Amino acid sequence: MKRFNLPPLPYSYDALEPVISKRIMELHHDKHHAAYVKGANAAVEKLEKFAKGELEIDVRAVMRDLSFHLNGHILHTLFWPNLAPPSEDNKPGGRIGDLIDKQFGSFENFKKVFTTASNTLEGVGWAILYVDPEDNLYILQVEKHNLNHPASLVPILVSDLWEHSYYLQYENRRAEYVENFWKVINWDEVEKRLEKKEPVNPP
Ligand SMILES: [Fe+2]
Repeated sequence: MKRFNLPPLPYSYDALEPVISKRIMELHHDKHHAAYVKGANAAVEKLEKFAKGELEIDVRAVMRDLSFHLNGHILHTLFWPNLAPPSEDNKPGGRIGDLIDKQFGSFENFKKVFTTASNTLEGVGWAILYVDPEDNLYILQVEKHNLNHPASLVPILVSDLWEHSYYLQYENRRAEYVENFWKVINWDEVEKRLEKKEPVNPP
C-alpha cells in the first residue's frame, strides 16, 4: 500500500505575514501536517500487517483513523498552494470569477456564504468550495477532516478552521482570521483546479 510524504511549503514560512504569522506556519506545516502524514502511514501499516495475518487490529477503529489522517493530509496538501502573499484587493478573475458571479449573483454574495460557513462551523473543520463536472459550485462545511465530504465533488478552495491555523495570532477571534483569509487566497490556483477538475493525488 502507498506511503505518504509531507510536501514542502510552496513559499517561505513568513510569506503570508501579516495575515498569518511565520510561527503559525512553522507549527502548522512542520508539526500538524506532518502528524497527519505520520498517522496515515501508521494506519496503512497496520492494515497491511492485518492483511498478511501478522497483526490483529480493530479494523473499524484503524479505518476511522486512516480516514481522519489521510483527509487531514489531503486537505493540508490543498491548503498551502491555496494561499499566497496578502493583497488588499484580492478578488477572483477568469472563469472562477465568472462562475461565482453567475451562480451567487456577485463576489460579495459568495463571500457572505463562505464567511458564514466558516464562522458557524461547530468545533474544528474546514469551509470548502467544490465544483462538479458541470461547473456547479458548492460551499460546504467539513467537520474534523473527514466528516460531511461529498463523495465525488472536486475541492478547489479549502479554508482550514482548526484553531492551530490561527489561535497563536488571533486567539479566540476566528471571525477576524476568516475576514483576513480573503487577502491570502491564491485565486490562480483555484482557477487551475477548476480547469483540471482532478481528484487530489496525495504525495
Ligand atoms: Fe490545519
